[in-house]
Amino acid sequence: MKLVIAGSTGVVGTELVRQALSNPAITAVLALARRETPVPSRLSPGADASKLKSVICDDFENYSDSVKKELSGADACIWTIALIPSKYGSFPPDQAAKICRDYAVYAIEAMTNLAERSKPFRFVYFSGSGTERDPSKKPLLMGDYLLLRGEAETKVLAYAQQNPGKVEACVVKPGYIYSPDKHSALMGRVFGLGAAVFGFGEVDVRDLVAGVLDQVVDGFEKDTLSNADLDRIGKASSKKLAELRAKQ
Ligand SMILES: NC(=O)c1ccc[n+]([C@@H]2O[C@H](COP(=O)([O-])OP(=O)(O)OC[C@H]3O[C@@H](n4cnc5c(N)ncnc54)[C@H](OP(=O)(O)O)[C@@H]3O)[C@@H](O)[C@H]2O)c1
Repeated sequence: MKLVIAGSTGVVGTELVRQALSNPAITAVLALARRETPVPSRLSPGADASKLKSVICDDFENYSDSVKKELSGADACIWTIALIPSKYGSFPPDQAAKICRDYAVYAIEAMTNLAERSKPFRFVYFSGSGTERDPSKKPLLMGDYLLLRGEAETKVLAYAQQNPGKVEACVVKPGYIYSPDKHSALMGRVFGLGAAVFGFGEVDVRDLVAGVLDQVVDGFEKDTLSNADLDRIGKASSKKLAELRAKQ
């Protein structure tokens, strides 16, 4: 599988690249970002860093010919480019909408058209817990942000529904993501407690990524995966990986 990881320089993107490089079903990893994607630290034994190709993009609404050439023939994309809530407020609304919604909608359309026709292109849109797809139900807190992310989910899923046989889409909605690259264990426990109190859940980035890679390789269980789904699928995938490594 030739897999595009968009947002490969971010927290989730880095773990996606790390695990994809040691996944034998993934033969090529195209790391799509606005800057160079380095080979992640702490690769698993058996990882093949030569599968990684960093693709720098300077226009996410109109790919250059060289970016299109790299993306052509890809089998799937995991889209993680967006503003996380703490960064959203520092952007004007039209700019935030481009980054969180329009780039992803352009991506699914452009990549589907650049893909091989023998099987459907698979597209994962990373969103988050608590987003709202119904514009009449604006959440009290972070309402504009949560509606914008919900609108992006709706548009991505609608494109896939309108193009059966050409593309399959899945929206993933993790709650708080614990990452050992970014958080201390203590901080993780504090955030995890908050996630439980507010009801948006928590997932370890290593399980999350193991599960999402399984879904993209083997097919989507359903078109929207909640934090609880991601935690369940991810823990099962991590267990499978650990058993495989123990046998090697
Ligand atoms: N982290 C969490 O706890 C959490 C929880 C729930 C959902 N999520 C969702 O998961 C996804 C990934 O989150 P993350 O934590 O990995 O985010 P992150 O670390 O902030 O990474 C975001 C990625 O998007 C890129 N990006 C941001 N603004 C851009 C722009 N204007 N143009 C092009 N690229 C841009 C970043 O590039 P640069 O590296 O160049 O800035 C980076 O590659 C997001 O959709 C997020 O909402 C995250």
